[in-house]
Amino acid sequence: MFLSVLNISRETCLKLVEKYVSPEGQKHLFNVEVAMRALAKYFNEIKPGSEDEHTWAMCGLLHDIDYEQITGKENMEAHMQEHSGPLTQKFLKEIDFPDDLIRAIQSHNEVQNIPRDSQLAKALFAVDGLTGFIVAVSKVMPDKKVASVKIESVLKRFKEARFAAAVNRENIFTCESELGISREKFVEIVLESMKKI
Ligand SMILES: [Fe+2]
Ligand SMILES: [Fe+2]
Repeated sequence: MFLSVLNISRETCLKLVEKYVSPEGQKHLFNVEVAMRALAKYFNEIKPGSEDEHTWAMCGLLHDIDYEQITGKENMEAHMQEHSGPLTQKFLKEIDFPDDLIRAIQSHNEVQNIPRDSQLAKALFAVDGLTGFIVAVSKVMPDKKVASVKIESVLKRFKEARFAAAVNRENIFTCESELGISREKFVEIVLESMKKI
């Protein structure tokens, strides 16, 4: 499916993020933003002009816009039911975000039952899990920095079921089934992008 090309500036998107997400919560959004930009760039190198890097990056930046405004994680079931639902739509409409891109964002929460019917939606789903996993790996590094994380250590940690057990590996591995990117390459692209911020 072809999606809209976003013509809303990063500045406008960032203002919305700052309105609804705490500085602590913003860190995850910046990680997903850079990873989505890097992934769009990767697809553009394979097939020039196929994906819009700004659109991908902004969907990454905004994907959890409602996260701190809905029921907290102390009630996980309610939290997951509400996440990426009507409130996401309402917030994104404040900046006139296109409906098809809102749907693509909402599809990253499988509970919403919205098909991942675009390359962008598939990428967002896989990237979301991997960025969180990489942050977890960085926390066990001696200096606790993403800069010190190696591709091999991420791949090794995937196999340790008890490590960052909350992160669903199957979601990350959809990079192979849905995007056609090996997990090694996927980790490389996302990790290298995160090291730049
Ligand atoms: Fe989310
Ligand atoms: Fe997320």
